[in-house]
Amino acid sequence: MSQLIVKGGSRLEGEAGIQGAKNSVLPILAATLLTAGQVELRGCPRLRDVDASVRILKGLGCTARWEGEDTLAVDARSLSGCAVSEALMREMRSSAIFLGAILARCGQAELSYPGGCELGPRPIDLHLSGLRALGAEIDDAGGVLHCKAPRLQGRKIVLSLPSVGATENLMLAACGASGVTTIAGAAQEPEIVDLQDFLTACGANVTGAGTSTVSVEGGRPLHGCTYTIMPDRIVAATYLCAAASAGGEVFLRRAREEHLSTVTAVLREAGCSIRAGEEGIACTSRERPAVVRPVRTAPYPGFPTDAQAILMAALLKCRGAAVFEENMFENRYRHVGELGRMGAKIQVSGRTAVVTGVERLHGATVRCTDLRGGAALCVAALAAEGETEISETSHIARGYEDIARDLRALGAEAFWREH
Ligand code: UD1
Repeated sequence: MSQLIVKGGSRLEGEAGIQGAKNSVLPILAATLLTAGQVELRGCPRLRDVDASVRILKGLGCTARWEGEDTLAVDARSLSGCAVSEALMREMRSSAIFLGAILARCGQAELSYPGGCELGPRPIDLHLSGLRALGAEIDDAGGVLHCKAPRLQGRKIVLSLPSVGATENLMLAACGASGVTTIAGAAQEPEIVDLQDFLTACGANVTGAGTSTVSVEGGRPLHGCTYTIMPDRIVAATYLCAAASAGGEVFLRRAREEHLSTVTAVLREAGCSIRAGEEGIACTSRERPAVVRPVRTAPYPGFPTDAQAILMAALLKCRGAAVFEENMFENRYRHVGELGRMGAKIQVSGRTAVVTGVERLHGATVRCTDLRGGAALCVAALAAEGETEISETSHIARGYEDIARDLRALGAEAFWREH
């Protein structure tokens, strides 16, 4: 496995393009199962989770192939199965997203339970109760989900919390249901809007994404299309935080501030100058971050849990204290111990973490505990004196095409070292 080496202590200056969004492409790949035609996905990021989704699609009998750098062509007309193997389910925690689409397309599905992950338990009770409400019979005994739905019937579903995955799964199942499905209490993330836009481009009638009520008129035949995946707002947040951490001036092509406003608001408070336009976002940071108001993670449009570790890493040298409250996942402070090895002062108590800004950080040997925790180590390493050696980088490969390439484009010294 490769190690990532980051030599910190110098200011950034450069420009990088933002890859397509992981959390957008995964449900869209599941959605391709509903279409009778070729789908061409442009701006498709080359990620481990995308490879896992492609293996799931191929395992179901679809064809999928890369055409050039970032275009993935999928054809689901040849679909021949409705079961996803346990090995494939294990490879990617968000594989439950395939359930709604397989059910809608085949009338049955067999998947193993996705189980927990490094962030703690990942229940899918809302996905299952929503699918049951649409008429699916689901037997979840023994860690395997046996699902049958010869006929799905649209109806109103109320989600007790705005789960991103459940909203997406139900949107996909609803495309195959007769009548109208209304999802109240839906998640409002930009990736759900991207899924709606993709489904619309295939001929579906989906409205309301981006608000708390999504409606789907099911039963329409869906055709292929060419679609460009939205830019990844968490990758953009990572490189903005990199600039805040190391200081300097960066430009992120394709990054869209309307998806990131809670993150840019904190960075502005910390003293960064951020200018957003049609082409992307520019960020200039000249001094140690100032003190910011407490950062509380919440469903969109609140502060994204996926940016919590990354922002924390950018504030390790703040001129005072920074308070974080993690409200989405139980186990999302695992990066704290690793940041401590670099000289960070962070106290965790339950869902709260308090960073006491230090004047200096130093390079260290650290390991990734999860995807965004790994990215946070890179952000911190940029502000540390000397070399940081980051191991267990396969976590990072789940969400970043090539973080070392991007950081180099931004003027950092970062490279992979093969073992
Ligand atoms: C998605 C994102 C992930 C992000 C998360 C929260 C993808 C592929 N992943 O994950 O990067 O961190 O949103 O923004 O898009 N919950 C239940 N029952 C359910 C489903 C969820 O209790 O059936 C709980 C979860 O434990 C969690 C909260 O709801 O505490 C939010 O989870 P959810 O929005 O479903 O996250 P994911 O879709 O898994």
